[in-house]
Amino acid sequence: MPHIDFPISDLPLDTAVRVEHEQMAIVVTRTTSGISAFVDVCPHAAWPLSGGLVENGVLSCDGHGWEFDLKDGRCQNAPAYCLTPVKFTTMGDFLRLEWERNLANKPSLCSIGQQ
Ligand code: FES
Repeated sequence: MPHIDFPISDLPLDTAVRVEHEQMAIVVTRTTSGISAFVDVCPHAAWPLSGGLVENGVLSCDGHGWEFDLKDGRCQNAPAYCLTPVKFTTMGDFLRLEWERNLANKPSLCSIGQQ
């Protein structure tokens, strides 16, 4: 299973960070509530979410303003849509992201994309 490790100190608070590895792009955020990781593709029109803003636990897409709750990835504008979560674990000062090779191709409808 592909994975990447990087220092948690590379995650500024309330900032969307794009992590790329083996043709996979992941948006990682760190807020006072914790860390979140999702496939870096907006379910609306596929803009990268890492260009968006993080405020009050919500990630706003730079494309057309859809907003996503970082707790579960659910879209607040169109609740049928969710971001595709990426598995992560913390190992001391490092974060490990890991994913299935086909994860970026999964549908982003909440009933299908969420586990
Ligand atoms: S592409 Fe994200 S809101 Fe349109």
